[in-house]
Amino acid sequence: GTGALVDRYGRTATDLRVSLTDRCNLRCTYCMPAEGLDWLPTPEVLTDDEVVRLVTVAVERLGVREVRFTGGEPLVRRGLEGIVGAVAALRTADGTAPETSLTTNGIGLARRAQGLAEAGLGRVNVSVDTLDRAQFAALTRRDRLPDVLEGVAAAVAAGLQPVKVNAVAMRGVNEDQVRPLLRWAVADGLHLRFIEQMPLGPRHAWDRAQMVTAEELLTELGREFALEPVGDVARGAAPAELWTVVGTGGDGRPPATVGVIGAVTRPFCGACDRTRLTADGQVRSCLFSRRETDLRDLLRAGASDEELADAWRTAMWGKPAAHGIDEEGFRQPLRLMSAIGG
Ligand code: GTP
Ligand code: 5AD
Ligand code: SF4
Repeated sequence: GTGALVDRYGRTATDLRVSLTDRCNLRCTYCMPAEGLDWLPTPEVLTDDEVVRLVTVAVERLGVREVRFTGGEPLVRRGLEGIVGAVAALRTADGTAPETSLTTNGIGLARRAQGLAEAGLGRVNVSVDTLDRAQFAALTRRDRLPDVLEGVAAAVAAGLQPVKVNAVAMRGVNEDQVRPLLRWAVADGLHLRFIEQMPLGPRHAWDRAQMVTAEELLTELGREFALEPVGDVARGAAPAELWTVVGTGGDGRPPATVGVIGAVTRPFCGACDRTRLTADGQVRSCLFSRRETDLRDLLRAGASDEELADAWRTAMWGKPAAHGIDEEGFRQPLRLMSAIGG
């Protein structure tokens, strides 16, 4: 076949999420057990050249226009700057450069933000679930909040803008941080998004009835902030719904916005434009797929670019209609979040 990554429901994937490692230097309770996981053995992980080869196929032949690097924690991958540089230099069939971005926990970003910007990285999203140091240490099992906040500041300074901050809301854990997080984001010019927790972590880390919903988040924010929906911008395939924080901005600054990613109660699967590549070279058509398509062995066996492209197209044709979290018989994917990349 030729052309783009279309599925049987008529969606086209133009946004590629590339997981560069399943390892991480934090142990967030909603993501990993304290002892870590059985990491992928090195020979199974794509080399830097192999990653770039597959992303090249996606950009040059499959219509991918946005490339996001994830993990685990992508900053623990030594070759990150080189991979970013090679991907930023690619051109789509119509001659445009792909947009590049990174989703990170921020540790080590203070040292690397400038270099990443110079390598051609467009922007970053940093996970900050709480601004309370003790709460952060309990939640991530590492006392690293100061490093993370330095990383956020460095990303702003390096022009990796807009810097988006992700906060997963968890009942009885960081609920008291919802308003403080927005105060901070407004003051520092960050784009904050609250996320409904999805069933992607260790078993029993998620409970539908306990989940903090988008609606609850908006109610809690409404106690302190006046919010207006960002009306005329179509949400399209963007996971976050945006609100303007009334009364902010001025002095040449636009008003602040806050986002809510209601992945469970307000799913965006119908407009999904994503395809995923794991660190060991498997295509996932959906975050929640239970099936994967191996490109690594194909590549290592000497497949041509067009053969790789064809296998990718076939994988995406089988993309599920939706995650089905609220449906009977839903089962978590076999990989955990840290091995998919979110
Ligand atoms: P931006 O383009 O910067 O807005 O990126 P993003 O929000 O898509 O990416 P990010 O990596 O920051 O992810 C934010 C949240 O959205 C995380 O909880 C992801 O797991 C979730 N997310 C990202 N892509 C998908 C998806 O395709 N489906 C679902 N259900 N959730 C997703
Ligand atoms: N549900 C929703 N978001 C999650 N993340 C990690 N685990 C989950 C989950 N179970 C977030 C991270 C990061 C992004 C990639 O996904 O906090 O911001
Ligand atoms: Fe797309 Fe699957 Fe996420 Fe739905 S759950 S938005 S289909 S990746």
